[in-house]
Amino acid sequence: MKLLLSACLLTLAWAPGIAFADDAVTVLTIAQDHGCLACHAIDGQPSGALGALPVGPAWRDLARRYKSVKGAQQTLTTKIMTGSSPEASRSTAYESHWSGQVSGEFMPSHRSSISEVEAARLVTWILALDLPN
Ligand code: HEC
Repeated sequence: MKLLLSACLLTLAWAPGIAFADDAVTVLTIAQDHGCLACHAIDGQPSGALGALPVGPAWRDLARRYKSVKGAQQTLTTKIMTGSSPEASRSTAYESHWSGQVSGEFMPSHRSSISEVEAARLVTWILALDLPN
């Protein structure tokens, strides 16, 4: 019985799924520490509290939209650092990428609060969210 138990534990420790779960915890801690989750949900929700649109796009929706877009990893990392706004894009012709789907028009810059390495880690994780359920 003891042997069986250790065999099970060994299998668990080596299962790739467990490694992913650990990483999710780390990544979600980063997201929590930097306030991302105040505006973003992980999973798509049709609407925010009281039927209002959520402030920012759900991260699974981001994955669906950008997963196959070339250079998305770098573009989105840069967007987290600079923000997504007319100032960030240096253009008055800026348009929200999520117009009509979210209530927030802009995302503020996170340059002063998050390192680019952490932002890139978040993006890698976000883009991998669009795995089949
Ligand atoms: C104050 C609210 C707010 C916070 C805090 C916030 N976001 Fe956003 N985020 C938004 C909004 C609103 C958008 C949609 C802007 C747009 O249309 O490009 C957005 C868009 C994004 C996008 C996609 C940009 C695009 O071009 O489609 C990514 C990636 C993102 N956020 C990641 C993050 C991460 C990671 C954090 C934490 C470090 C974070 N956000 C914190 C509101 C926020």
